[in-house]
Formats: sequence, structure tokens, C-alpha cells
Amino acid sequence: MDATTMRHVLGHFGSGVTVITGLTTAGPVGFTCQSFFSLSLDPALVTFAPSRTSTSWPGIRPLASFAINILADHQTAHSTGFSRSGTDKFSGVDWRPSNFGAPVLAEALAHLDCRFWAEYDGGDHTIVAAEVMDFQVNDERAPLLFYKGAYASVGSILPHAEPVAPTAVQ
Ligand SMILES: Cc1cc2nc3c(=O)[nH]c(=O)nc-3n(C[C@H](O)[C@H](O)[C@H](O)COP(=O)(O)O)c2cc1C
Repeated sequence: MDATTMRHVLGHFGSGVTVITGLTTAGPVGFTCQSFFSLSLDPALVTFAPSRTSTSWPGIRPLASFAINILADHQTAHSTGFSRSGTDKFSGVDWRPSNFGAPVLAEALAHLDCRFWAEYDGGDHTIVAAEVMDFQVNDERAPLLFYKGAYASVGSILPHAEPVAPTAVQ
């Protein structure tokens, strides 16, 4: 399967959007990352997949903590801005340090304070498992979604015949 077809097919899997940030000695860095999911409850682990070409991830990886910012639906500019490699991504961006010192984007839907756990081969990406140390949610916001190569917001919450099990791992 060629890359264009694979991207088209997999674009049918909608997801949220995160910006993964760290505070390096050279200042704050971060990159937009859609490949994020919950992995384990005990220990509390999440997963994401940085490209091997990412210039931000090698700086974030050795830090004592980094933040996974889950974007709200008014933050498409953050998604686009943090996807531009080599630019001054934090210029004009409102952020504060988390309890662990990682950059938290103002008005994000939620953030997780994480530390590196493990990294695995993932072809032209790697697969990172990170341990969640702290978090904060902003329930007044709605998630930014990425679907078929475009941004979307939640149109409607579907009623369930049965309650969805509140587990991270199905
Ligand atoms: C919606 C969206 C989702 C993305 N998801 C990922 C991802 O899961 N992994 C990744 O490495 N890059 C992803 N990117 C691309 C990176 O954000 C982009 O390559 C960025 O330039 C990397 O910046 P860096 O070189 O500073 O690390 C995504 C971009 C967008 C717009």
C-alpha cells in the first residue's frame, strides 16, 4: 500500500489532538501529535508515536518530565503551529509551567504530566510509553478532533443503550 492510500484509509479513524511539550535548557519545545492513546491503568501509562524525523522529541525524551496537552476545539492554531518544524513555536503562545515544570498550554482541554517509561521500534516512527505522574482537566472545554485530514469538533454525543465501561484498557 502506498503512503497516500494508507494516509487516506487511516484518516477515517478520528482522534483527538495533543501537543507534547518539554522545557529544555534552550527553552520550551513541543510538537503536535495525534498518535496518542491510553495504555495501562496500573501503572498509569499512555502511548504516543513520534516520527524519527522529529526535532523536538530528542530534546524532550531525557527530561525529568514533559506534558501531553490535549487540545480543545478552539485550538486549531496550536495544532498547526506546533506541527511546523524548525519554527519558533512558542512565540505568542500563552503557557505556564505544570507542577512538574513542563509547559502547559493555556485553555487546553487537559494535560498529563509524564515521564519517559520505554520506547519501541515503530518503523519510521517510534512508540513511546510514558508514565503519568499528574494531570489536570478543564471540563468546560470540548475536544479538538482530527478526522479525514481536517479538524472537527464533537457534533453530538450519541446516547448509549448500555453504559460504556469506564476503563482505559478495553
Ligand atoms: C493533526 C496532526 C497530527 C500529527 N500527529 C503526529 C504524530 O502522531 N507523530 C508525529 O511525529 N508527528 C505528528 N504530526 C506532525 C508533527 O507535528 C510535525 O512533524 C512537526 O513538524 C514535528 O515538529 P518537530 O520537528 O519540532 O518535532 C502531526 C501533525 C498534525 C497537524
